[in-house]
Amino acid sequence: MPVTVVVGAQWGDEGKAKVIDLLSKEHTFVVRYQGGHNAGHTVVVDGDKYALQLVPSGVLYEHVIPVIANGVVVDLPTLFSEVDMLESRGISCSELKVSSRAHLIFPWHQAHDAIAEAMRGDDKIGTTLKGIGPAYADKARRVGIRAGDVHDPERFAALIRDRAKAENKLIAEAGGEPLDVEDMVIQFGEMGARLKPYVCDTISLLHNGLANSAHVLLEGAQATFLDLDHGTYPYVTSSNPTAGGACAGTGLGPRHIDRVVGITKAYTTRVGAGPFVTELFDEDGETLGRVGKEFGTVTGRARRCGWLDVVMLRYAVRLNSLTELSLTKLDILDGFETVKICTGYSYRGEEITEYPDRYDVLEEIEPVYIELPGWGTALTEKREPSHLPQEAQDFIRVVEEHVGIPVRVVGVGAERDDYLVWGSE
Ligand code: GDP
Ligand code: IMO
Ligand code: MG
Repeated sequence: MPVTVVVGAQWGDEGKAKVIDLLSKEHTFVVRYQGGHNAGHTVVVDGDKYALQLVPSGVLYEHVIPVIANGVVVDLPTLFSEVDMLESRGISCSELKVSSRAHLIFPWHQAHDAIAEAMRGDDKIGTTLKGIGPAYADKARRVGIRAGDVHDPERFAALIRDRAKAENKLIAEAGGEPLDVEDMVIQFGEMGARLKPYVCDTISLLHNGLANSAHVLLEGAQATFLDLDHGTYPYVTSSNPTAGGACAGTGLGPRHIDRVVGITKAYTTRVGAGPFVTELFDEDGETLGRVGKEFGTVTGRARRCGWLDVVMLRYAVRLNSLTELSLTKLDILDGFETVKICTGYSYRGEEITEYPDRYDVLEEIEPVYIELPGWGTALTEKREPSHLPQEAQDFIRVVEEHVGIPVRVVGVGAERDDYLVWGSE
C-alpha cells in the first residue's frame, strides 16, 4: 500500500487524527494536503492530549517525516507555536517539511474572514475565523505569498508590504481596523527566517520517497461534506478535502493511491451553520454532545449532534472512492436503549436516493430511520470483534451493509489504543 488517503466522511472531527496515528506506524511520510489551522486533530497518548492544527498527526512517531504539502495554507504563528509545544514535550519536529508552494496566511486574511462573516448578518457560515477562505481566495486570484518566497528576505518583505497596503485600503473601506504594515513586515520577516530550513520541494521529496519504496499517508483535514465543490455549499470550507484534493494538494497522481479510508463517527456532528438532516434537538442530541464531549478543538464551540446518516456515507464512498471505513466513537452510544441510523431521505413525501445538490432542498429533507437495540455495555476495554455485545456487532454490520464497503477499524475510546480491528479480509 504505497499511498493511503484518510478522509473525513462527514462534517469534520470524525476522529481522523486517531486513525492517522494508528496508520502512521506503517508509513514513512505523513502529509497534510489541504486546509490550514482550521483543523483540530487530537491524539491522546497515556492521558496526554496532543491537539494539532497544522503539523501532521504522524509527528508523534520518530520514524515519520511530517510534510505540509502544497495544498495547505500555513499560518506561521500557529505553526511555530505548535512546533514549540511539541518540542517542549519531547517530540522532535526537525524532520518537518513545508512545501515551497504552500500559501501563507497573513493577518489581513483573518481580518477579511471576520468582515465577510459580519457582512452575512444572520446568515453566517460560522467559519473558524482563521483566514482560510481569504487565503485560498488570494491563491485563486494569484496574489498569494508562498512559503518559497522566504528564500529572498528582501523580496518577501516587499511582497508583504505591497499586499498589506492594498489590503489595508479594503479593510478600511469595510470599516475594519487597518493593520500595522511595518510591524507585520518585521514579525513575518523573523518568522520567514525561521521557516527557511523547513521549506523544500515536497513533490520531489514524496516522489523520490515512493521510488525508494516509502509508504505515504495523506492526512485529510475537514471532510467530504465541507468540500468546496461537493459539500453543502456555501456552508463549506474553501478547499477540497475529498480524495481528489489529495492529488492536487500533494502533486501525487491518482494512480499512486490505492487505499482511501473514510472516517465516520457512529453518529453525526457538525460545527458552524448549514443543513444537517439528522440533527437532534432533543435529549438524545444533548446526550450525544455531553457523552461525546462534542466541543470544537479549535474554537471551543458546541458541535451540533444527530444520528448516523448512511445516505451521506454512500455519497462519500462515491466522491472519494472509499475502500474502507473507520467507525469511531462507537462507545459514545453505550448508554442508549435504542439507536437510530438514517438509511433514506424523503422530500415533500417522495423518497430521494441521491444526495441532494441544493442546500435549500437538504433543509427540507425528512430522514428515514431504522431503529436498533442498544447494548448497554461499556465498549472501551473491548479489543476483539467477538468481545463486542451482539447488538454492537449488528450495528457495525448494518452500517457495512447500507454503505457497501467494509468497516476495518472501530473506535471504542479516545486513547491511542482504544480501537479494535473489525474485518481482516
Ligand atoms: P479529527 O478532526 O477528525 O481528527 O477529530 P477531532 O480530534 O477534532 O475530534 C475527535 C475527538 O474524539 C477527539 O477528542 C478524540 O480524542 C476523540 N475520539 C476519537 N476516536 C474516539 C473514539 O473511538 N471514542 C471516543 N470516546 N473518543 C474518540
Ligand atoms: P477537522 O480537520 C469541523 C467548518 C467551520 C465552518 C466551515 C468553514 O478538525 O475535521 P473555515 O474556517 O474552514 O472557512 O470554516 O467549516 N470547519 C470544520 N468543522 N472540523 C474541521 O476540521 C473544520 N474546519 C472547518 O466550523 O462551519
Ligand atoms: Mg477536528
